[in-house]
Amino acid sequence: MRICVIGTGYVGLVGSSVFADWGNEVIGVDNNPEKIKMIESGVMPIFEPGLRELVAKGISSGNLRFTDSLKAGINDAEIIFICVGTPMGEDGSADLKYIYQVADEIALEMKTPKIISIKSTVPVGTNKKIREYIKNKTSVEFDSVSVPEFLREGSSIEDMNQTDRTVIGSNSPEAIEKVSRLFEHLNSPIVKCDLESAELIKYASNSFLATKISFINEIAQICDLSGADVSKVAQGMGLDSRIGPKFLNASIGYGGSCFPKDVQALYKTSSDLGYHFNILESVIKTNKDQKHYFIEKIKKVYGEGLKGKTVACLGLAFKNDTDDIRESVAIEVVRILRDMGAEIKAFDPEAMPNSKKVLGDSGITYCATKEDAVTNSDFLVILTEWREFKELQDSVLISVKDKNIFDGRNLLDRTKLGNLGINYYCIGKK
Ligand SMILES: NC(=O)c1ccc[n+]([C@@H]2O[C@H](COP(=O)([O-])OP(=O)(O)OC[C@H]3O[C@@H](n4cnc5c(N)ncnc54)[C@H](O)[C@@H]3O)[C@@H](O)[C@H]2O)c1
Repeated sequence: MRICVIGTGYVGLVGSSVFADWGNEVIGVDNNPEKIKMIESGVMPIFEPGLRELVAKGISSGNLRFTDSLKAGINDAEIIFICVGTPMGEDGSADLKYIYQVADEIALEMKTPKIISIKSTVPVGTNKKIREYIKNKTSVEFDSVSVPEFLREGSSIEDMNQTDRTVIGSNSPEAIEKVSRLFEHLNSPIVKCDLESAELIKYASNSFLATKISFINEIAQICDLSGADVSKVAQGMGLDSRIGPKFLNASIGYGGSCFPKDVQALYKTSSDLGYHFNILESVIKTNKDQKHYFIEKIKKVYGEGLKGKTVACLGLAFKNDTDDIRESVAIEVVRILRDMGAEIKAFDPEAMPNSKKVLGDSGITYCATKEDAVTNSDFLVILTEWREFKELQDSVLISVKDKNIFDGRNLLDRTKLGNLGINYYCIGKK
């Protein structure tokens, strides 16, 4: 199939290279010419495992091309996937300005019938509105399809190839069948539905996962108060097949480019529709509070101020295996610790360039290795669940002067640290 993917960010760049790998003719479009130049020269604008190799494979096979011209991109395409950002607006709703920009350009440049498919996460009702918007600007026929994306940063290529399900929403049965053909070889269920249901499936899924996280974080607080162990509670809950083990890790809370904005947007959409979404209100509040709960653990040991203390902070990305720091709770915690007067020695395997842009240099040294950050710091704080943080050598751990480790991701082994004479503070475990 001939496919145009608009937006070459985390979803669009991965999507275009995976579609090309499936044997389609794909052209990726971005209105940032620098990004296109980088990609064409083999330098990825984002970190995603396996992406550089897959893009190179697509380009050399002739299946994958890139352009900064939307007109050139959509010209021959049968299906257009819109993958631009839908960030959080000031009032909590999804900001759809990039979607409307793309809709304007498509309406202007489209010369032959197309399937216009929105992959970006957009509130229920958006596809219909965009359809009317484009229809008012062109006489060319087109079908509208909603194909929300469920990939996770850090494993996105694998996620697209082994998806749990594909959701395809449209009011045109022919368009649903045509888009389905693209995904049929995956042998995973395809949910075929109307536009509104497809849009809501995405928000309901992310909001439900965020609810699981906030739920276990509240259980963790009960564990701290009662002496129970949240990892055992989560294990016992997760073995129930009705519950499942995933998204039950107690932590400093969820962040990233999706959950915070999607939960907030569903809450706002519900309110606009006249419904007060009680559960989501609590999920949002619990998540906002959770990092402060962690900071309180530090304050209980050190008091309000950290002047004169050097704090090793491991992890800046919002999760492991990504360089994405959008809405990263790790970044928020670093800011709080710095505001308390601490000198920060930070390390993240992939997210330091992005972090420097938002945190600056004042009060922060960006270290070349995790060992550099930890060695001879006063205390250590773990903020992102990178697996390599589990592999810190004993000699590095015992160099921490105050012998205090605060683990916001429950990553390290309490028994091992106890044997090293280190005080270990985590979430929901004594
Ligand atoms: N990142 C994820 O893990 C993820 C997962 C599932 C769904 N989503 C959703 O997918 C959408 C995209 O997310 P992302 O993380 O890939 O965003 P992103 O910010 O990484 O990428 C968006 C890209 O679109 C480009 N762009 C903006 N306006 C454009 C225009 N007019 N023409 C051409 N290109 C344009 C930008 O330059 C950028 O490269 C969002 O709605 C998001 O909620 C993201």
